[in-house]
Amino acid sequence: MKYSKIAESMPASPIRKMMVKAAQYNDSISFAVGEPDFKPCEEVFEAARLSLDAHESEYSPGAGYDELRISYANYLSETIHTPYDMENVIVTVGGMSALFVGMMALLNDGDEVLISAPYFSNYNQMIAMCHAKAVPVDVYEENNFVLTPEAIREKITDRTKLIVLNSPCNPTGGIITKEALAEIAQIAIENDLFVMSDEVYRHILFDGLEYTSIASLPGMKERTLIIDSCSKTFAMPGFRVGFACGPTEWVTLMIKLVEGIYSAVPDATQRAAISAFKYSMNYCKEMRDEYERRRDYIYEQIKGIKGLSCIKPSGAFYFYINIKGTGLTAEEFSTRLFDEKHVAVVPGTNFGASLGRSYIRISYATSMENIKAGISRIIEFCNSL
Ligand SMILES: Cc1ncc(COP(=O)(O)O)c(C=O)c1O
Repeated sequence: MKYSKIAESMPASPIRKMMVKAAQYNDSISFAVGEPDFKPCEEVFEAARLSLDAHESEYSPGAGYDELRISYANYLSETIHTPYDMENVIVTVGGMSALFVGMMALLNDGDEVLISAPYFSNYNQMIAMCHAKAVPVDVYEENNFVLTPEAIREKITDRTKLIVLNSPCNPTGGIITKEALAEIAQIAIENDLFVMSDEVYRHILFDGLEYTSIASLPGMKERTLIIDSCSKTFAMPGFRVGFACGPTEWVTLMIKLVEGIYSAVPDATQRAAISAFKYSMNYCKEMRDEYERRRDYIYEQIKGIKGLSCIKPSGAFYFYINIKGTGLTAEEFSTRLFDEKHVAVVPGTNFGASLGRSYIRISYATSMENIKAGISRIIEFCNSL
């Protein structure tokens, strides 16, 4: 083989494939991509414009601007009632590079990483790129897709080093309850494991629930790296600003690594992020309320669709829908739904093969108008089977 074995073995993203397919028809409706349909606040654009007008064009510090690191540390300290300083924070190119560089700073060849399955498929790829081994821990619809402490315990070996948590979860919309978090924390402490807590959907939480981060539990701050991002919170995915926040030693290694990978995050987008923390916190709530309205609508509809069932997600903007009753596999369902009705969804196999065959994921980060039209096509499709 000519190029890297790891690179060659990475599957092409089915979500991208679906986006390309959907772009071919004027009447397509896409529930495939997890990208907010909102625009950031005007103050965010204004801050980026001011940076460009001031001709800010230098390499910024690898760790990010102090002002942004401080803003993030203060914001996090207040929201999870756990004190953090600037030294605990690195600004990254989106949550993606926070995850990847965080793993690179921690993992050695053959280390095992527990990830709850279904999972955000990039975890798997990043773990492989670190020459470590992803160990899926299955979660089940009957259990609201919540990771159980017993399931984690079963998968721990003497090679286990890290548990990756994602709450609210992409693709299920499930959250890990406070009680489960406390037990997972206990397991991490007993087995001396690290935790990466992917909290990029922390603001998209419904039914009045308050966010609990595992980092705020006793004994966990020193072993947890929080992953966060402006992409979903402030609807700024194209600005590519993310964060990792955790033990100074871990973060310092990450700063060293990014110097040799992408050097720094662009000036203008960091200015935009500083502005978002100053002016956009109320906007997060408005977006959350709209996502909740959409969730309620879709849930009521799905309950009545022949062959489909789902749990009511508590957060993020996804439904992970059980399609067993249609008699189709996830691949067949997605392909036929698109070919026959021009509605794009993602087969559950993209998020872990073992259970994924019976599920599809839909993202409702799209307008209510699209949602209503898309759901009525799904109803027609299911009735025709
Ligand atoms: C679970 C999860 N983590 C991290 C990310 C990374 O997002 P970004 O790099 O845009 O911050 C995403 C994006 O979809 C995600 O779904």
